[in-house]
Amino acid sequence: MIEQKKFRIGILGSGKGSNMVAIAEACANGTIPAEIAVVISDVESAGILERARERGLKGQFIAPGKFRTKLDESAENEFINTLKTEQVDLVVLAGFMRILKGDFLRVFEHRVVNIHPSLLPAFPGLEAWKQALDYGVKVTGCTVHFVDQGVDTGPIIAQQTVPVSFEDTDETLHARVQEAERELYPECVAALARGEVVVRGRQTAWKK
Ligand code: GAR
Repeated sequence: MIEQKKFRIGILGSGKGSNMVAIAEACANGTIPAEIAVVISDVESAGILERARERGLKGQFIAPGKFRTKLDESAENEFINTLKTEQVDLVVLAGFMRILKGDFLRVFEHRVVNIHPSLLPAFPGLEAWKQALDYGVKVTGCTVHFVDQGVDTGPIIAQQTVPVSFEDTDETLHARVQEAERELYPECVAALARGEVVVRGRQTAWKK
């Protein structure tokens, strides 16, 4: 009998890894029909690597090179080669704080997704929950989207709202947005692994 290859996910992150943990738990309990092939970080001391290794996942540090906001060419090649060697079907950005461009996106065309802590297109860039609080919006949330050449501009897969209250601080709002992220991202990754997400230009839909 030929055993079917499981859908393989590569996760990239620079931070503490709460989204990675939510996805790993959903893979472990079968909610996401996939396995995490590798977790890669551009930050050697990042919590995401420690939390991946604690779970028995492969956690790999790749030095990003000399730039602050992107990977240099050799780092980009190392990321690509590692993900190819691990036969990754989907690249999941989970708090990866560098912009991916050119070659990387060409190699993994339509196979890179990101989670952003606001309702895009509002508040792209850094500390989006803080931007939302400072602006005074009544509702914010999180967005899962495909990654394209822009910053937080790719086709939107799903969004979840979070109400903003007068009592909110940066910390309380960030915590509630992250709670929403931990629900939304595993659902989206599961739909992607099941091949249920279709894209037409900037629009996407979930077909069951
Ligand atoms: C998440 O809140 C994610 O939305 C944000 O980084 C955090 C990572 O947390 N990403 C961005 O701001 C990307 N522009 P985590 O390491 O606990 O998953």
